[in-house]
Amino acid sequence: MMMFHRILLFFLFRVSFAFTEEAIGLLKWKATIEDQNTSLFVSWTISSGDVKNSSSHGEANPDACRGWYGVKCFNGRVNMLNIRNAGVVGTLRDFPFSSLSYLEYVDLSINQLSGIIPAAIGKLTNLVYLDLGSNQFSGTIPPQIGSLTKLETLRVINNHLNGSIPGELGNLQNLTRLALYDNQLTGSIPASFGNLRNLHILNIRANKLSGSIPKELAYLDNLVVMIMSKNEFSGHLPEKLCQGGKLENFTVNSNKLSGPIPRSFSKCTSFKRVRFDNNSFTGNLSEAFGIYTELQFIDLSDNDFHGELSSNWGKCKNLTNLQVARNNISGSIPPEIGNIKGLQGLDLSSNHLVGQIPMKFGKLTSLVKLFLQNNHISGNIPRELGSLTKLLSLDLSNNRLNGSIPTFIGDYMNMFLLNLSNNKFSQKIPKEIGRIVHLTALDLSHNLLDGEIPPQLASLLDLANLNLSHNSLSGRIPEEFESLTGLQDVVLSYNELEGPIPNNKAFTNASLEGNKGLCGNLTGFVQCKMPSSMMKKKSMAKGRKLILITVLHVLGALVLCAFVSILLMRVKRKKVLRDVDRGDDGLLSISMLEGKELYRDIINATEEFDATFCIGKGGHGSVYKVNLPSLGNIAIKRLHSSFENSYHNSFMNEVRALIGIKHRNIVNLYGYFQKIGLAEEGEYYQRSCFCFILHAP
Ligand SMILES: *[C@@H]1O[C@H](CO)[C@@H](O)[C@H](O)[C@H]1NC(C)=O
Ligand SMILES: *[C@@H]1O[C@H](CO)[C@@H](O)[C@H](O)[C@H]1NC(C)=O
Ligand SMILES: *[C@@H]1O[C@H](CO)[C@@H](O)[C@H](O)[C@H]1NC(C)=O
Ligand SMILES: *[C@@H]1O[C@H](CO)[C@@H](O)[C@H](O)[C@H]1NC(C)=O
Ligand SMILES: *[C@@H]1O[C@H](CO)[C@@H](O)[C@H](O)[C@H]1NC(C)=O
Ligand SMILES: *[C@@H]1O[C@H](CO)[C@@H](O)[C@H](O)[C@H]1NC(C)=O
Ligand SMILES: *[C@@H]1O[C@H](CO)[C@@H](O)[C@H](O)[C@H]1NC(C)=O
Ligand SMILES: *[C@@H]1O[C@H](CO)[C@@H](O)[C@H](O)[C@H]1NC(C)=O
Ligand SMILES: *[C@@H]1O[C@H](CO)[C@@H](O)[C@H](O)[C@H]1NC(C)=O
Ligand SMILES: *[C@@H]1O[C@H](CO)[C@@H](O)[C@H](O)[C@H]1NC(C)=O
Ligand SMILES: *[C@@H]1O[C@H](CO)[C@@H](O)[C@H](O)[C@H]1NC(C)=O
Repeated sequence: MMMFHRILLFFLFRVSFAFTEEAIGLLKWKATIEDQNTSLFVSWTISSGDVKNSSSHGEANPDACRGWYGVKCFNGRVNMLNIRNAGVVGTLRDFPFSSLSYLEYVDLSINQLSGIIPAAIGKLTNLVYLDLGSNQFSGTIPPQIGSLTKLETLRVINNHLNGSIPGELGNLQNLTRLALYDNQLTGSIPASFGNLRNLHILNIRANKLSGSIPKELAYLDNLVVMIMSKNEFSGHLPEKLCQGGKLENFTVNSNKLSGPIPRSFSKCTSFKRVRFDNNSFTGNLSEAFGIYTELQFIDLSDNDFHGELSSNWGKCKNLTNLQVARNNISGSIPPEIGNIKGLQGLDLSSNHLVGQIPMKFGKLTSLVKLFLQNNHISGNIPRELGSLTKLLSLDLSNNRLNGSIPTFIGDYMNMFLLNLSNNKFSQKIPKEIGRIVHLTALDLSHNLLDGEIPPQLASLLDLANLNLSHNSLSGRIPEEFESLTGLQDVVLSYNELEGPIPNNKAFTNASLEGNKGLCGNLTGFVQCKMPSSMMKKKSMAKGRKLILITVLHVLGALVLCAFVSILLMRVKRKKVLRDVDRGDDGLLSISMLEGKELYRDIINATEEFDATFCIGKGGHGSVYKVNLPSLGNIAIKRLHSSFENSYHNSFMNEVRALIGIKHRNIVNLYGYFQKIGLAEEGEYYQRSCFCFILHAP
């Protein structure tokens, strides 16, 4: 009995000592971190309960399990430490690795932890989950992490880690998620990664990794997501990479990969999202790819593919994006592409395509972006295309298209970019273009257009770039252009224009040479000879209209930056509100720490504003179309950085002005970002960005 008592006492003492050691260790670490004054860590202290609980010597035995912030215990031992996004500034030098051997779950992400990741982390041998992401850790990944054999999730994204990936990570046989993206890791992928048989997600994008992709990765037959974009990988892709049959998302864009697409890929029917763009892949396009019924997104742009577009793409019924720009594709566009009902983005630009635009494209009523520029496409714009009223961006430039510009273009009310330059379009510029009120760039240059410039174009208050050069336009430049104060670049050279140059700042450095008889106060032009009495009479007659236009225009200027047309196609309104704050001005603001979920979605969806999602560049920024889980399809305008700087101070005023405006054509502001942090897969970090989402009423 006595013996038993002793053992029990000894046991109690040991336990009490152990939990004290854990708490003391954490308190010591707390003393080393800055910003410890935040209210979050107030609970990390020696409480009165600890003193009561103390040994006969009257010393306090702090207990981290008494409601310490971010600490959870199991059987009296610290089991979980989650101080994600807690404003911690410091290092892990004094972190009590030796005392916390019962830890299974550690999340220190989104803080300002710097210095190295200590080798002592290898003592946390019970860890199942480790997230050190979005800090400022530097140095290398300690190979000791390879001894945490229970690890299922390892995330060290968005730090400053360099050096190579330790081969020891290949010991983590239970690992299902490995994310090391956004670091400066060098060297190649260790062949030992072939042992990570349970891996579902591998994300190592945006590092400086090089070498070829090891063939051993083909053993990872549970792999669902493999993201290796934005590195310096070279060589051919391993033949059997997709043999597990589960690979859904496979992205290797922006590397230096070459050679053919592995033959097995043509049968990789699990593909949902595939990016090979910006490499040097070769081969016959129609042989390399098959039919993928689940495929939603594929980008093959900027490679050296040749051959023809297969009619099989028409069988990929779930496709929303097909991008094969800047390759060596020849032949004509298969009409079957018109069967992809949900297609939103089609970019076949800069190839050697011939033939006509298929009439069947009239069925692509979800199309938002249609880029066929820089090919040899001929014939008319088929009248069936009148149904593509969701188009935001249409670029058919540099082809051999002829006939007249169809009047139904005016039904593309949401469009902000229209480029038909360098074709053989003839006859008049349809006045209906004046209905595309949000157009910011209109380029009809280098065609065979004649007649006068329709004065209706003066309704395009958002117009920044106007290029009608190298046509046979005659008559006067509409006086109404004076009200287009958003104009930046005007090119009307090499036409047969005459008469006064509109009194508009943009015309002072416009290209107007090679016309018949333009006049005005500008250098290089003769003064207009029109009697001043006539000018006066004319302007009086126009008085009312001008005021109206000016008022509208002032509003236009106010909302200039925040002005995107009905860019939001399908909005699920309610959901987003959970995530954003309503400021006292009634605006939905998404500041650094709030609305994280929404901007994570946005950055995730645009892959940090990757060019592949850009549906066009307008006057002041680029517009990206994305599908957000929370909002559905939206367009996001990201302002050019120059614009951002010059307008930064007045941005909020403009936004405020915007809310006051109720106008049929002015959409409601959904939310705005100002210098938001970027986010990806649950993380965010600071980077300058200036964008917003607008939605239709
Ligand atoms: C820390 O907190 C205490 C008590 O709330 C406060 O008096 C003190 O000013 C704070 N110090 C800093 C540096 O914020
Ligand atoms: C890996 O997971 C399996 C199944 O959950 C488990 O039985 C095994 O103990 C784990 N291995 C390690 C090293 O934890
Ligand atoms: C890694 O970065 C540290 C500074 O953070 C530097 O001292 C070291 O030389 C770098 N090592 C490599 C291999 O680039
Ligand atoms: C293509 O990849 C290179 C690096 O290989 C990168 O510098 C460049 O920005 C990428 N281009 C695009 C359009 O993504
Ligand atoms: C995989 O791609 C699909 C389709 O684009 C997307 O919905 C999904 O979120 C992606 N999954 C991951 C883990 O990236
Ligand atoms: C296509 O997408 C829909 C939902 O968008 C889904 O239900 C379906 O399973 C997907 N696959 C095929 C082959 O249609
Ligand atoms: C590409 O492959 C298809 C199908 O095998 C073939 O018909 C076509 O001639 C090839 N094209 C080129 C340019 O080699
Ligand atoms: C691409 O096409 C051009 C012209 O047709 C040809 O000169 C070039 O060799 C082709 N490049 C490849 C890689 O096939
Ligand atoms: C229109 O397309 C041509 C040729 O592709 C290009 O040079 C021009 O810059 C484009 N215009 C605008 C306004 O983007
Ligand atoms: C347009 O070009 C085609 C040949 O590509 C020709 O047959 C047709 O007559 C042309 N149409 C017009 C209106 O010039
Ligand atoms: C037409 O002018 C615009 C400027 O308004 C310019 O961006 C564009 O490149 C020009 N188009 C062509 C074909 O040169």
